[in-house]
Amino acid sequence: LDNGLMRTPPMGWLAWERFRCNIDCDNDPKNCISQDLFRDMADRLVEDGWRELGYVYVNIDDCWSSMQRDAQGRLQPDPKRFPGGIAKLAQYVHDRGLKLGIYGDLGTHTCGGYPGTTLDKIETDARTFAEWGVDMLKLDGCYSNATTQELGYPLMSKALNATGRMIGYSCSWPAYQGGLPPTVNYSQLGEICNLWRNYGDIQDSWTSVLRIVDWFSDNQDILQPAAGPGRWNDPDMLIIGDYGLSMDQSQSQMALWAIMAAPLFMSNDLRTLSSSARFILQNKVAIAINQDPLGVQGRRLLKEKSGVEVFWRPLSEGASALVFFSRRTDMPFRYQTSLRKLNYTAGTYKPYDVFMEKPLGLLKDSTDFVVSINPSGVVMWFVPPAAQWQKQAERGRMFY
Ligand code: GLA
Ligand code: GLA
Repeated sequence: LDNGLMRTPPMGWLAWERFRCNIDCDNDPKNCISQDLFRDMADRLVEDGWRELGYVYVNIDDCWSSMQRDAQGRLQPDPKRFPGGIAKLAQYVHDRGLKLGIYGDLGTHTCGGYPGTTLDKIETDARTFAEWGVDMLKLDGCYSNATTQELGYPLMSKALNATGRMIGYSCSWPAYQGGLPPTVNYSQLGEICNLWRNYGDIQDSWTSVLRIVDWFSDNQDILQPAAGPGRWNDPDMLIIGDYGLSMDQSQSQMALWAIMAAPLFMSNDLRTLSSSARFILQNKVAIAINQDPLGVQGRRLLKEKSGVEVFWRPLSEGASALVFFSRRTDMPFRYQTSLRKLNYTAGTYKPYDVFMEKPLGLLKDSTDFVVSINPSGVVMWFVPPAAQWQKQAERGRMFY
């Protein structure tokens, strides 16, 4: 969607995967969906260095609202859990240089059973969100049918635009229609939405991450061309820092989401995050790859019989990123290849190992090299042509 927003994939924090629909503030006040939770996360984003790296969205998901609309038919937050109201929370977030996202559902109810946005409520809800000072809307698709979605998703896009407020628009529409043509029309999605969920929900497990990576790679010929500045495929939240991933698997999720030009919404508890998870999520080169201004989504280049998969993403100024991903379960695998075998032809390059944070020296495209990839882990490289690196370094614009 060409509304000037999200020219690179949006980054921030989203409540759903980690905090779900926990509304039990009496017994679990620190972890329930309430204004305090979002303020806490906003504080962490500011104080722990996230905001400067680009993680600026604080996003509410399901279960924020009251069970009833108000007397004028508007959505309203649960008064016990959001006593200050959403406008106040938006102010709190804005005062800290962050943005607030909210959740709605095009249907009779949200997936969690809260009031939905039926077709007749689209304009009201768009206006309400704008009046509150909301910066992004995730519009889910539970409890609606294909016809309602076909009308409703474009209508909400128009309604948000008509408010005059800049509101990023995340559409769950394709996820409810199988994610593939002919049912899903990606050129239309790119015109009406800034990002869209193509596939099922992520869960706190490696199996879930693999299922998502496989689906996106198997269908990359359709999905990859759909993405670009202002229009992104969304493979769902980062679960790094939760309970399901090892450190290698966490690096894998970060690397693959960067290659996929995916929105980077963490769903974790920033108040108790381990320093190792924080190092991965705050890796500057991985973030720069994800946020590359060219905005071209990457792809899986190779699926080797050994269980190694190679992913590649073209970046601005002739650079690119490579991810060597091992699906093996035995031991670190020594994978031998050359840049030439991976279609590189510009002569000499100067790769940088993203997670080792180590420059690797000059490498000719014809020279064989070996990377040692941990089981369910990755080796991720940033690969500028040597000449380009030299020029950039002189201008002080290189990462290393
Ligand atoms: C759906 C969405 C999730 C989340 C839940 C909330 O399952 O795909 O991302 O928003 O609804 O109920
Ligand atoms: C060509 C291929 C792409 C990719 C690049 C790598 O452009 O079409 O799929 O492999 O080379 O440089």
